[in-house]
Amino acid sequence: MENKTKLKGTAKLQIDNKTVELPIYEGTAGPDVIDVKKLYAETGHFTLDPGFTSTGSCESQITFIDGEKGELLHRGYPIDQLAEQADFIEVCYLLYYGELPKRDESRAFRRALTYHTMLDSQIDKFFEGFRRDSHPMAMMAGTVGALSAFYPDAMDVNDPEQRRLSSYRLIAKMPTLAARAYKYSIGQPFVYPRNELGYAENFLRMCFSVPAEDYVPNPVLTDAMDKIFILHADHEQNASTSTVRLAGSSGTHPFAAVSAGISSLWGPSHGGANQACLEMLQEIGTVDRIPDYVRRAKDKSDPFRLMGFGHRVYKNFDPRAKVMQKTAREVLDDLGVKTPLLKVAQELEKIALEDEYFVEKKLYPNVDFYSGIILNAIGFPTSMFTVLFALARTAGWVSQLNEMNQDKTQRIGRPRQIYTGAPRRDYVSADHR
Ligand code: CMC
Repeated sequence: MENKTKLKGTAKLQIDNKTVELPIYEGTAGPDVIDVKKLYAETGHFTLDPGFTSTGSCESQITFIDGEKGELLHRGYPIDQLAEQADFIEVCYLLYYGELPKRDESRAFRRALTYHTMLDSQIDKFFEGFRRDSHPMAMMAGTVGALSAFYPDAMDVNDPEQRRLSSYRLIAKMPTLAARAYKYSIGQPFVYPRNELGYAENFLRMCFSVPAEDYVPNPVLTDAMDKIFILHADHEQNASTSTVRLAGSSGTHPFAAVSAGISSLWGPSHGGANQACLEMLQEIGTVDRIPDYVRRAKDKSDPFRLMGFGHRVYKNFDPRAKVMQKTAREVLDDLGVKTPLLKVAQELEKIALEDEYFVEKKLYPNVDFYSGIILNAIGFPTSMFTVLFALARTAGWVSQLNEMNQDKTQRIGRPRQIYTGAPRRDYVSADHR
């Protein structure tokens, strides 16, 4: 990756009697950054920023978020345009290669992915080792990590061809693995991929087809699934992507790095919020119970939070939530589903957006607020929601990893700390403690 930051000026930092000059760089968009790389060498001080609220970890040319405006761009293209006009495979290509594919490039890319949709049959034995009630995210983290054992031919992250091969394998195999995790959890036989089908349709078929009855595709659901994949494809340096980069910075196998990302995504503050959000909407159940939950969300002595609300970067509407809301309505209308969940969600959104607490803290609905309603209507159990997020985010993870491995300034990630534990002391034998 050719580094493109521009030197804009310097910041002066005074520590005791010493003044150090730190370069300020500007990118294409977003806040300028103060480069503190040399701070330790020049002053003997580290910076401290738990949760990385003020810290950039890398230069990237993939995704940009303007949190104040509520804008998300992939390689410069707004997410709503991609969701409305592109398909997921085009977005995968865009994220990985930096440009939208021409027709022949798109054909070749799709064809190449279909060569990698199958799994080594040994992997099925891994599934058999899991309890049937295992959370599918546990199965995903385990089996994606295990797949690194099958591809020793793609371990050299300095070789662009090996990186490409791992990336294609990950994007292509993730639906097959995710569908297997689902089928295993409900005790149904695995369904093999069909390469003549599109990415989303193939995935839905692998989840919902049974030997006794083939899956009849519904274009509205296929389209909604594809949109959900696009909306989750990448989101710059979030927790799971940073985890993939940090794990990958040691030069580990890309499947192992992505397995680490899946583990990070699982938590309810991150990808797990879509499961938690639908469970919350189901628990609320009816509109008259909403004020009680809003009151609880505002009560600092109550750990309850409004799931699907708030974001570290967005201080405005998450643009993905807007597309999701529209898609939810389309899916429910098409299926003729009369669930109270959408009504509860819309009313909850309205009340929260007018409430002083949420207004003041700039807490808006995020991508997870409506996605669960769609996935629930399609027929997925809540435990699968985060798996679908992981499937889609794989496009971003492999693109970010590929970018990192081309970055000449890339070194192993190694944060520091401020130590506040016991000072040096001598070992005391058990008799004298
Ligand atoms: N309900 C009630 N209060 C909230 C919420 C919420 N959902 N989110 C934040 N707050 C309050 C929080 O209590 C804090 O208040 P105070 O300043 O008085 O202590 C303030 O808003 C700032 O919150 P924070 O936890 O310091 O902010 P953060 O940037 O560390 O956390 C977040 C961001 C997304 C983890 C958080 O908003 C949250 O827990 N939301 C619910 C979970 C959720 O929907 N996560 C999905 C994120 S989008 C998908 C993804 O990218 O993974």
